[in-house]
This record gives sequence, C-alpha cells and structure tokens, in this order.
Amino acid sequence: MKNPIIETDRLILRPLSLEDAQTVFDTWASDPEVAKYMRYYTHKSVETTKEWLEHTVSNEYSDTDYDWGFILKETGELIGSGGLYYDDEDGMFEIGYNFAKAQWGKGLATEAARAMLDFGRNTLHQTQFRGRHDVRNTTSGNVMKKCGFVYEGDCIDHMLEDGAERKVSMYRLSTPEEPKNFKLSNGIEIPPVGYGSYRSTLNDGKAPILKALELGYRYIDTASFYKNEEEIGEAIKESGIPRSEIFLATKMWPSEMGYEETKEAFDRSCSKLQTDYIDLYLIHWPKKNPQDLQWRQSIRDTWRAMEELYKEGKCRAIGVCNFQPHHLQVILDNCEIKPMVDQLELHVGYLQQYTLDFCRKHDIIPQAWSPLGRMYFSEEPCLQKMAKQYGRPVSQLLLRFLNQSGIQIIPKSTHEERMKENMDIFGFTINEEDMHFLSVLPQIFFSKEFPDWATRCE
Ligand SMILES: NC(=O)c1ccc[n+]([C@@H]2O[C@H](COP(=O)([O-])OP(=O)(O)OC[C@H]3O[C@@H](n4cnc5c(N)ncnc54)[C@H](OP(=O)(O)O)[C@@H]3O)[C@@H](O)[C@H]2O)c1
Repeated sequence: MKNPIIETDRLILRPLSLEDAQTVFDTWASDPEVAKYMRYYTHKSVETTKEWLEHTVSNEYSDTDYDWGFILKETGELIGSGGLYYDDEDGMFEIGYNFAKAQWGKGLATEAARAMLDFGRNTLHQTQFRGRHDVRNTTSGNVMKKCGFVYEGDCIDHMLEDGAERKVSMYRLSTPEEPKNFKLSNGIEIPPVGYGSYRSTLNDGKAPILKALELGYRYIDTASFYKNEEEIGEAIKESGIPRSEIFLATKMWPSEMGYEETKEAFDRSCSKLQTDYIDLYLIHWPKKNPQDLQWRQSIRDTWRAMEELYKEGKCRAIGVCNFQPHHLQVILDNCEIKPMVDQLELHVGYLQQYTLDFCRKHDIIPQAWSPLGRMYFSEEPCLQKMAKQYGRPVSQLLLRFLNQSGIQIIPKSTHEERMKENMDIFGFTINEEDMHFLSVLPQIFFSKEFPDWATRCE
C-alpha cells in the first residue's frame, strides 16, 4: 500500500522523496547530537543520506515498511522523519523517528508517533507495537510512555552498518480491548464498572450519586443496609436520565430474609428508590450470623420469593453476595433459576479462587466489592512501581487487574477525580507477567467480613 498523507494538529506526514536528501542531511542527519541516537544510518554525507532515501523510496509499496517525512505546518519545513517497520522476529511493527534538534521538547514527536500508531491500528489492523531507543535518550522514553508504551527493560542492540553495540531501552504497546459489558446467564448485559454507594451519601447526601451519574456511571450498587436508597432514588429522578438506562442493584439484609419478608423488603426498596422494578436483586449475606442454624431453610425460602419476583418481571436479574460454594449449593440444589451474580470481597491479595472457580462453573458472574481493597495497600512499593511502569495510579492497576480477570467491579468514591479515575481503566493492558504477579500477591488487607465467622451480621 502506498503511504498516505496524514495530517495532525501541527504536522503533515508525507512520503519522502529523493529530493529531500539535502534537507534531511542539513537539518538533522548531520547533527552529531541527533545522529548519536539514530539506529540505522549515520548519514556521514549527503551521499549516504541519498542511499538511505533510495531504499526508503523503493519501499513505497511495501507492506512491511512505512516511511514519512514530517512537515511543520506553520513553516512548511521538513523537520524529521519516521515510520513503522515490520520485524519478523518480534512479529510486530516497530516505530521509529528522528527530529531536528531545534524541534525537540515541543511534543512534536509524540504527535507524529500517535499519528503513525493510529495508522498502524486503523489501517494495518495491528494491535501490538514495539519501540526502542538509545538508553541515553530519555526524551524518547517519555514519548513512548505518552503514547501508552510500557517499558520492558534494557538490552544490547547492534548498529546495522557495522554491528557496533549500543544499549537500548525496549518498549511494547498492546492496544487495549474496548470496555466490554458482562453478560449475565439470562442474556442481560451489565457495564464492567459500576458505582458502589456504601457510605457514599453520609456527608453530602445525593450529591455524589448525581455526580457519578453525570460522569457516566450507569450501574449503581446499593442495599437496604446502606440506608441511602431514598437519596439514590432522588438522584436518579433529578439526573433526568431515563430509568431504563440505569442498572440498579439493591440487596436485602439477613433480617429481611424469608419468603414473605423478602417480598416486603423488595417493595420497601422499590418505594425508597422510586422505581417499580429492580435490575438486580441480591441476598446480602447467606447467614444471619455464624451461629445461625436455620440458614439453609432461610436461603431456600428467600430464593423462592426471589424467583417469583423475577418471573413477575419485578427484577431483571437475581443473585447473591458473599456466598461461598456450600451456600450457593443450597440454591443450586433447589432452584428453577440459578443466581446470576455473586458479589464477593475480591481484590489483589484476596481473590477467593475456589469460589471464583465455582461461580464460573455455574455461569455466575463474579462481582468485586472493595475492589480497591479500600486503598489500604496503595502504598505498597511493588504496586507503586508496577503502576508507574504503566503510567497509571495504583487504583487503576488494581481495578484493571480485576477487569482483565473477568470480574465486574463496583468501586466507591465520593471524590469527582477518583470517580473518573476508577472508570478510566481501559487505556492500557496489564501484561501476562504482571497479571501473574498480582494474582499471587500475598494478602495485605482483608475486611474480616466472612459469612461463616464474621461478627459483622450479628
Ligand atoms: N455485598 C457486600 O457485602 C458489600 C460489602 C462491602 C462493600 N460493598 C459494595 O462495594 C462497594 C465498594 O467497596 P468499598 O466501598 O468497601 O471499597 P473500595 O471501593 O475498594 O474502596 C473505597 C475507598 O477507597 C477510596 N477510593 C476510591 N477510589 C479511589 C482512588 N481512585 N484513589 C484513592 N482512593 C480511592 C474511597 O475514598 P473516597 O470515597 O473518599 O474517595 C474509599 O475510602 C461499596 O460501596 C458497596 O457498594 C458490598
């Protein structure tokens, strides 16, 4: 394919021609400050620059080499060049560029690199890219990071013309997948990030809920226990967002369990939330307390009522929270409709793997409460170091880890910036090695709320 002309805010990227030789040589290739970082040709003279251009121009229709000259729109000058080059060994395109020294520090390299990467993604349909730069060239490292590349380490590289060694920093860019909804077993889709509302209305009433809706949250998690269903109902009304566009989940407390009690609790929640249906109705805990000997019967009665509410169309989905396999089994042994969600304490360092495996086996979507571990371990140096490598805060690393693990999340924050941060977890991909590390990190925080031995529900 012939290289297209690409326009950015300040640049025009156009194919190079042999006539560019003198300008390339004079403007940057002959500058030792630039040349020392260049990988392929040292451009010792205009002749060697011409040789390089002949090679470049002959690649005009190649589908493994794409080269552009960068024209500064403001002046019409050729100020740099770069391209995408397919590396057989890596099985991906590598990005490269050079700019005249006078143009450094203006963000032009980032602008050109982003445009070339967009071409790679949108036209060449590539999802992985490689980048490398001389270790001394820290500016290029910043460009890589701004484009979303992740630093992978340093290694020795060889110059093409004489095989001389130089040390380079290696980078990799994986294009993240689009945010994907989770599909419940009955086909209903829920967004990957919801808003957790426990204690969120304590100081400012409905304001944080309104803010969350304004910022784009469309899944709200509440419970009769949170005593904020009224504020949530008011916020939804006031937001003007149609009820059908908001996925509303609420829960009954153990004291509200039982056949009749569940139906009454459901009606109470609907009335407080100013709605005639709930999107997801959940049992909050499997037991009243660890000594509760009636818990099996209580779950069976409650679930019967839940199934009726579902069949009557009063809730679009039904599920549970804090159920381990032995609690879930009581439902599975007696139900017509299986739970669609299990909301569990899940975060880095506390992943309840046995229960997660059980949920997956039974087509139950795992949902994480305290997905940030309430930020108790945000100061952990290894998490801070890893988050820095992705150019993201620790909070996003923790949430993205759960998302990539197939877990829906409902982080809570009352601060606008944090609410935004907690939704913005899709611009990067945690690599396999780091996913593994995060999955085996020892427990740093645990709420101690556990149905069979917590004191919480007493
Ligand atoms: N089913 C259950 O039994 C159960 C139990 C517990 C929770 N939940 C649900 O799960 C939701 C989330 O769990 P959670 O509230 O316990 O814990 P969480 O979401 O892991 O953490 C919330 C804490 O982290 C802070 N925070 C949030 N985003 C942050 C960020 N980007 N940077 C720094 N700090 C940040 C919040 O402070 P600020 O608010 O001050 O920003 C708050 O103190 C709850 O709201 C509730 O809906 C369910």
